[in-house]
Amino acid sequence: MAVTVNGMIAKSNGNVDFVSKANWRLFIREARLAGNMVMGRRTYDGMKRAGELKRFRGVRIIVVTSKPRRSTDPNVLFTSLKPLGIVKLLEKEGFKEALVTGGGILNASFMKSGVIDDLFLYVEPVVIGSGIGLFSREGFDTRLRLAGAKKMPGEAILLHYRVDR
Ligand SMILES: NC(=O)c1ccc[n+]([C@@H]2O[C@H](COP(=O)([O-])OP(=O)(O)OC[C@H]3O[C@@H](n4cnc5c(N)ncnc54)[C@H](OP(=O)(O)O)[C@@H]3O)[C@@H](O)[C@H]2O)c1
Repeated sequence: MAVTVNGMIAKSNGNVDFVSKANWRLFIREARLAGNMVMGRRTYDGMKRAGELKRFRGVRIIVVTSKPRRSTDPNVLFTSLKPLGIVKLLEKEGFKEALVTGGGILNASFMKSGVIDDLFLYVEPVVIGSGIGLFSREGFDTRLRLAGAKKMPGEAILLHYRVDR
């Protein structure tokens, strides 16, 4: 996830122009490596509208929604499966890892379900006063262990946390 210093992932209107080119490049590379992305319906709609999906050609896209619809793209699946069900589905499809890519509502439901092992935060040197948070307001507490911290281009920092079980 690309985050501001105060834990925002987008402005209130969904704008993500704080995300640097280097951040996008890394994200696209990781998505291609994992071969899949799990995202909330709002994130999917936003990426589709912005024409960003073409940068992820060949990547299996699982869109979580309470109202699944048929997809015209065989690589895109709309599903109302629960987080564990999605992990099992991707496992069945032969993937070794699932890349959960937001937004905040989806992140919270996956974290709450206990299926997250690793958290990667690409912290951009920006503060956004009002926006969409990394996790929507849900009742859960998750303890993390710092597994890595790396300085990135443009004064950003990549943080890698492991969920402490
Ligand atoms: N900075 C970053 O790295 C980053 C990454 C991703 C997204 N974003 C930004 O985040 C914003 C969107 O985040 P958001 O929190 O508003 O929405 P979101 O998590 O992308 O999508 C929320 C929608 O996903 C579906 N959903 C999520 N969890 C579900 C569950 N457990 N069961 C059933 N349906 C579920 C629901 O769809 P239905 O309403 O269809 O039922 C819900 O309304 C966008 O502005 C996007 O640009 C930023």
